[in-house]
Amino acid sequence: MAFINWSDSLSVGVKLFDDDHKELVSIANRLHDSITVGSQQAVLAPILNELVKYTIFHFGHEEGMMLQYAYPAYEKHKKEHDALIAKVQDFSDQVKSGKTSISLSLIAFLKEWLVNHIMASDKEYVDFFSKKGIK
Ligand code: FEO
Repeated sequence: MAFINWSDSLSVGVKLFDDDHKELVSIANRLHDSITVGSQQAVLAPILNELVKYTIFHFGHEEGMMLQYAYPAYEKHKKEHDALIAKVQDFSDQVKSGKTSISLSLIAFLKEWLVNHIMASDKEYVDFFSKKGIK
């Protein structure tokens, strides 16, 4: 069973964002699987690198749309994004430097971020974008 299962309960009603979220879940599942089989830095570092890049790419999509439509909670949401990027970048740097004892905290962080950020903060924009007619 996958670490995180995509389900409609995670949908935010905007196809572009849902597609991004699905890709992030897929990368997180690969990372989780690699950690649980005891993969070392050479395997983990590229996946984490991909996660950092895709995270920045996805947050850019959301923030661009928020700015375009003057989403009222943009600043608050951007702050959360910036903190998540800093954290995932920090994990990536630690793995690159050979630190492997971060596995459990990384797994906890992935779930916290992907599930909780989407289910709480991202869900807050569902009505807003829906009323703007964005799907
Ligand atoms: Fe989908 Fe705000 O990240």
